[in-house]
Amino acid sequence: EAGLHAIARAKGFTFGAAVQGGLLATDPSYAAAFEREAGLLVPEFEAKWSVLQPREGAFDFALLDAILDWGTPRGRPTRGHALVWHEAFPAWAREAVAEGPARARAVMAAHVARVLATTRLRIRDWDVVNEAVADAPGSDTPQAEGELRDTPFLRALGPSYIDTAFRLAREQDPTLRLVLNEYGVEEDTPWAEEKRRRLLSLVRGMVRRRVPIDAVGIQAHLQMLRPFSVPVFTGFVGALRAEGLSVIVTELDIREGPAVPEDEPARDQLVAERAAAFLEAAIAGGVRTFLTWGLVDRYSWLVTEPAVARRDGKRHRGLPLDGDYNRKAMWRAMARAFANA
Ligand code: G3I
Repeated sequence: EAGLHAIARAKGFTFGAAVQGGLLATDPSYAAAFEREAGLLVPEFEAKWSVLQPREGAFDFALLDAILDWGTPRGRPTRGHALVWHEAFPAWAREAVAEGPARARAVMAAHVARVLATTRLRIRDWDVVNEAVADAPGSDTPQAEGELRDTPFLRALGPSYIDTAFRLAREQDPTLRLVLNEYGVEEDTPWAEEKRRRLLSLVRGMVRRRVPIDAVGIQAHLQMLRPFSVPVFTGFVGALRAEGLSVIVTELDIREGPAVPEDEPARDQLVAERAAAFLEAAIAGGVRTFLTWGLVDRYSWLVTEPAVARRDGKRHRGLPLDGDYNRKAMWRAMARAFANA
């Protein structure tokens, strides 16, 4: 039976997933699942700063090339994630950026220029800045005084670091799709509503300043224990597109949290219902590109990141395929959402 990639493509959508190059090379079932289901790839880890430039001036594209060398002959594009982010940000860069604005800008420019020059023929779409907006009060991440997250580049350059990153990327390659990627803007909670307001405010400012931004990436790490409203999210996607931007879903997965029943069929059904509602809202808002953050439950960060698994005390099942690569209710819900669009 056709995979999500073919089902989505038949109706003008693109479906893809975050991939780990090491697993492509070592797990034949994993590679077969990506061959069948994913029409677009994003490196889960291999295109981040700490991998590409672990020491100043010492670039290493080997892990990223392994993914590109797998995808290209199979006609699978790879999108880039992420040029500027406060995580996977090596100590040398943190220290350099802290030296002052001139050094900070030079470090950013060198990374953006070298990465985009090296990948220009193979990656046409990049998360230029990831997670720039501060979580609203009452969330569980450190607050900044303003609406932007307190990051090394914010401290060194002020809010203009975001414009600078996008302008450096555009200077390097005028035909790239440049994306601002964010999380926590999906659900029907006061917290998410405030973060949607902050993201819209940032995006509107960038458009007003004629910053070269093409799209907003919505990560969509959804949580079952939070309510979701189809009209609220559809409206948010519409507001972003009213600024002349595309909107893509970049990291969909669905964390159940403690509220979900123990037995797996019931959990899978609830996750599938959330996936169906989310895709309905996103498609109604005009989203055409969807990526899940992995394909297979057993390799999900929700399972492998101890902090996440411990916090909810559950073995999450937030992806379309279960640990044995069987298609779950979530897979069927996504297939239906694409096919019935
Ligand atoms: O592969 C290396 C291994 O060779 C090395 O020995 C080991 C020791 O440090 O690290 C391994 O790399 C790990 C990598 O995942 C691959 O598994 C890193 O430690 C670990 O920090 C990294 O975590 C990733 C995290 O981002 C930080 O980069 C997660 O896989 C990845 O799922 C997560 O993804 C983020 C998105 O980029 C942004 N949105 C949120 C999302 C979830 O946190």
